[in-house]
This record gives sequence, structure tokens and C-alpha cells, in this order.
Amino acid sequence: MKTALIIGNWKMNGVSSDLAEAMVLMKLLQVSNHRARVGLCAPPTLVERLARLLAASDILVGAGDCHAEANGPFTGDISAEMLADAGAKMVIVGHSERRATHNETDAMVGAKAAAAVRAGLEPVICVGETLAQRESGEALDVIGAQVFGSVPESLSNAGEIVSRVAVAYEPIWAIGTGLIPTIAQIEDAHRLIRETLVRRLGPAARGVNILYGGSVTPGNAAQILRADEVGGALVGRASLKAHHFMRIIEAA
Ligand code: PGA
Repeated sequence: MKTALIIGNWKMNGVSSDLAEAMVLMKLLQVSNHRARVGLCAPPTLVERLARLLAASDILVGAGDCHAEANGPFTGDISAEMLADAGAKMVIVGHSERRATHNETDAMVGAKAAAAVRAGLEPVICVGETLAQRESGEALDVIGAQVFGSVPESLSNAGEIVSRVAVAYEPIWAIGTGLIPTIAQIEDAHRLIRETLVRRLGPAARGVNILYGGSVTPGNAAQILRADEVGGALVGRASLKAHHFMRIIEAA
């Protein structure tokens, strides 16, 4: 079994004073015998300071998005290379909040994932259906198409690199709502993602961590993380409090 990957997604939350919460997490991790790899994706303004603060820990610092180009006339954007330069090790791409509010397409998400790999970052590629798609029975078709379109083909047969890519299944209706799919629905989605990844990237895709995200809490994490093909979690709200996040990490 591959080591589980538990990633906190701070979204657009976090100012200097919240660095204390990251320090608490680091201290909690140092005295726990957890087995997961842990990531913390924060606003870009905090990446450099977090990377410095957490340098003595195994926590992988990351960001919530990157641009596909390495540099150029893209005012306000940040490239994967810049994040790596600031000390980041991973980056979330294609989160549904960005797909919705920045009109990001699968092709754009795929380009960002390829940029992350180019810069030496681990991309966390997000997919997931809307409630309407779930209710009309289209969820698996939507998820399969998103994986196929958002995972760059350039990673096929990339061997070792492929195992540093993660895919997060995040049903949009479960994000921040307190609702979660049934374990059977999660397993169906994760098995489909695995099959699609192997079809797209070859056998090395068996090493990709497929994370579940959407209203993961200390209360439901253990059950979700035990489900077939669930290789970790992408945690929003519950990652903002170190003690809550720690309980999810320990459930892995
Ligand atoms: P949530 O967010 O845990 O607050 O539902 C998850 C996410 O959007 O990554």
C-alpha cells in the first residue's frame, strides 16, 4: 500500500497570525506516530514563510493554484517555478472553486499540472461532479472525462514522476457543505479514476494517490480513508485548526 497523503487546503484563508497554527501542527506531528505524508497548501503570500518555519518537519508546503507558463506578461499570476523558488513542494490545480470562478477548463488544468511537474512540484489535480450531475446519473461520466482531460498525456510512461502526481475526487456538492457521498459512491468514483489514469498514463499510474475531498472531518475521516482506492484526503475547513487536522492525519 502506498503511504496515504493528507493535504490541508487553506484556500483564501491565512495571514501571518495563522502561521502559529502551522507551528502547532508541526509540534503535534513531531510527537505523533502517524504514517501519512502531510501537505499544507496555503495562499502564496505565506508559502515562503511556511516553508521556512516548517523546514525542520516533513510537512510539504504547497499552494492552491499556479499559472501554466514559467514567466511572462501575466499580471497577478504566479508560476509553478516561482512557487518552487519560494519553497513549495506541491500545488493544487483545477480545484472546482477555480474551475467555477476562473472558468478553468480541463485543458487549462492539464497545462497547469504539466507546469507543476516541469517545476519539480507535485500536482494535486482536482475533479468532481455537481449535484445536478450526480442526481441525473452522469457523475461517473463527468469524472472520467475530467480525469482524461486534466491529466496531461505528457506524463504517460513517465514512471517515477507519475507516482508524484495526486488526483483528488471532490464532489462539488460535498465541499464546505457537511454532506458526503456514500462510501460506495466514493469507491465507484475512485475505481473509475484509477482505471482512467492507467488508460491515460500506463501501469505507473497504479502508484498515484487518489484523494477524497469534501467535508472531511475528524469524525468521518477514518471510514473514508479505509475505503477501496482512497489514498488520502484533501481537507478544507478542518485543516485550518491544527488539532482537527491532526486527528484526520492520525486516522490515515
Ligand atoms: P472542505 O473543502 O473540507 O471545507 O469541504 C475541501 C476542499 O475544497 O478542498
